Amino acid sequence: MKIAIGSDHGGFPLKEVIKPFLIKQGHEVVDFGTDTMDSCDYPIYGELVGEAVSFGDCDRGIAICGTGLGISMAVNKVPGIRGALCTNEFMAEMSREHNDANVLVLGARVLGEGLALRIVKIWLETEFAGDRHQRRIDGITAIEKKYLK
Ligand code: RB5
Repeated sequence: MKIAIGSDHGGFPLKEVIKPFLIKQGHEVVDFGTDTMDSCDYPIYGELVGEAVSFGDCDRGIAICGTGLGISMAVNKVPGIRGALCTNEFMAEMSREHNDANVLVLGARVLGEGLALRIVKIWLETEFAGDRHQRRIDGITAIEKKYLK
């Protein structure tokens, strides 16, 4: 898969751990930054990751900040994005199986590296179940369309 990844300074250390893990798993990674620990603003990177997925340039995205909260709010403002903030393996699995999440959101100051990598692996390997869940995804898209001008 071609995976967009981005973080603010709070998520930067975890982004640097996840990148080689993805490459080792055979994925192509497009890194939208940030590239240092210097303080920066998470909406910039949420937007970049969201656009890469929404425009179809990347298959999936991973967005990281300190808690995952701010960048989750930002990435979910991009039309077509279903960003899921996951703090455990069950949420990772369900966010794919039931919600067809196309961006995984992580909090680098919330998760240990080992758990974060388990979440990434499960999230990438779990398929969307479709069926009744597709109807609910369509419902989310309908809300988005209603407010898009
Ligand atoms: C940055 O200090 C921090 O606020 C940010 O990474 C994130 O946690 C915001 O939601």
